[in-house]
Amino acid sequence: MIISLANQKGGVGKSTLATNLAFGFSKMGKALLIDSDPQGSSLDWMNARESETEIHVIGFPRPNLHKEIKKIGEGYDTIIIDTPPHSSDMVRSAISASDLALIPVQPSPYDVWSVSETVKLIQEISTYKESLKAAFIINRKIVNTSIGNAVVEALDEYELPVLKSHICQRIVFPETASFGKSVFEKSGEARMEFQNLLNDIMELAHD
Ligand SMILES: Nc1ncnc2c1ncn2[C@@H]1O[C@H](COP(=O)(O)OP(=O)(O)OP(=O)(O)O)[C@@H](O)[C@H]1O
Ligand SMILES: [Mg+2]
Repeated sequence: MIISLANQKGGVGKSTLATNLAFGFSKMGKALLIDSDPQGSSLDWMNARESETEIHVIGFPRPNLHKEIKKIGEGYDTIIIDTPPHSSDMVRSAISASDLALIPVQPSPYDVWSVSETVKLIQEISTYKESLKAAFIINRKIVNTSIGNAVVEALDEYELPVLKSHICQRIVFPETASFGKSVFEKSGEARMEFQNLLNDIMELAHD
């Protein structure tokens, strides 16, 4: 399965979700994390790490990923692609290479409105790649709050599913990232949320 994390807005959690998902999937099979962002956050994450992991991380910041993915991804069970912010041929190529595009979105109306560009891109790619699936992931929800009605309604308009498990705003995300680690390596709520997220993703993928 090939999964890209895409949202042309910066700082919504693409790299955070990509690295943690890659870690989670690496416990279930062979996982490859492809960093298609020239910023190289996922590569930095791996370089910050001191202990071994089973994840392989490579940089591929080029817009021909969809043509090369078969060769690059050979032998892997799960491939996660971290993508750059801003609209680019690279994002298009990464989504075109994927079976599933996941869109991290923060539960604020501004973030929900600004996601329309990414949704349009996904819809456009779906016209020639019918098997492409896509869904929103709510990231940085404030603990013990519910998602505001305005946000729920605005997301509804996009006609893409919203995964039922949400990821909350937690200090453990930047803390673990500083050392190239994953929340799966720490016990706590974030780990449980991510485990639920993995289950949701697998359910959606096998639907
Ligand atoms: N659930 C969360 N809780 C706390 N901090 C978070 C969470 N998700 C992301 N962050 C923090 O928000 C910042 C931006 O996250 P991240 O780099 O993953 O976003 P991005 O979409 O990859 O950004 P860019 O568009 O620049 O590539 C980082 O400092 C990260 O640690
Ligand atoms: Mg990033």
